[in-house]
Amino acid sequence: MGKIAIFTDDPGWHGKQLKLAFAKQGYDSHYVSLTEAKIQLEESGLPIRLPEFANALPDAVFVRGVPGGSLEEVVFYLDILHAFKLMNIPVYNDGHAIERSVDKGMTSFLLKNAGLPTPATWVARNREEVLKIAELELQQGHKLISKPLFGSQGEGIRRIEKMTDLFWLTSSHGIYYLQRFVQCAGEGYADKRVFVVNGKVIAAMRRHGGKSWLNNVARGARCEAIEADEKLAQLAIKAAAALKMDYAGVDIIKDTNGNYSIIEVNSIPAWKGLESVCNVCVAEHLVADLLGRYLKINML
Ligand SMILES: Nc1ncnc2c1ncn2[C@@H]1O[C@H](COP(=O)(O)OP(=O)(O)O)[C@@H](O)[C@H]1O
Ligand SMILES: [Mg+2]
Repeated sequence: MGKIAIFTDDPGWHGKQLKLAFAKQGYDSHYVSLTEAKIQLEESGLPIRLPEFANALPDAVFVRGVPGGSLEEVVFYLDILHAFKLMNIPVYNDGHAIERSVDKGMTSFLLKNAGLPTPATWVARNREEVLKIAELELQQGHKLISKPLFGSQGEGIRRIEKMTDLFWLTSSHGIYYLQRFVQCAGEGYADKRVFVVNGKVIAAMRRHGGKSWLNNVARGARCEAIEADEKLAQLAIKAAAALKMDYAGVDIIKDTNGNYSIIEVNSIPAWKGLESVCNVCVAEHLVADLLGRYLKINML
């Protein structure tokens, strides 16, 4: 029986869904925390040690979570992911894709660099410079969003609407990330989450934040299934390609002029909200893509 390592510190519903989907294909999977991984370079033996994989390395690695920590800790966790890939063990999404997307500054840069529509964004160290940019933006009638460079589920995101909001503008460990606020089309606040697997859209939904401009499901946004139109689908597919991801959850807002703007590309997206409204088994799609494309397994 094949064996898969699912990297996670909190398996929860998603971990269970993956375990079931792997089992359906004849693969045994184990939850492993990256905090328990070791590099062990001796005369013989496996160079990477994981609990549950003492005698043989996994056939593939599924990354459901990378813990936070000091710079050294996070670099070490990414080293483990890179090491697996260098040993020709598939890592889904791989360490580079995760690196590129957990850093919102790099995500924005890569989207823009690929010629994709994304809001005006500034990432900088110098507070005075950042305040100058923010003042100018506010004077020109724009609102701004300040985000922690590493963050998810809407954590630490603030909206800057007026000059006095700049008093509390804080950096994330010394780095400021500012983005022009995109006013969405229609009533209230909403954006779209498009789920891409291997260059194809498998499901999409609209997330209504209601009175809140934060449309994260973790913040209570209401989900509604949508059929992604060709333009929306192509943007999401190109965004996942720009970040070289096997699969991605892409956040896209339609502005008041009807133009789409890509806000974020998630390399470890949740899919519980999506599955609650779409008739699709995301875990089965992910497992089929990983096993089929990387391990050349004929799907049952
Ligand atoms: N530039 C923006 N304009 C309008 N809304 C935004 C903007 N950036 C983020 N948001 C809102 O905040 C939510 C969270 O932002 P996002 O960049 O996706 O970070 P997170 O990783 O926390 O999900 C988005 O889904 C969207 O609703
Ligand atoms: Mg998001």
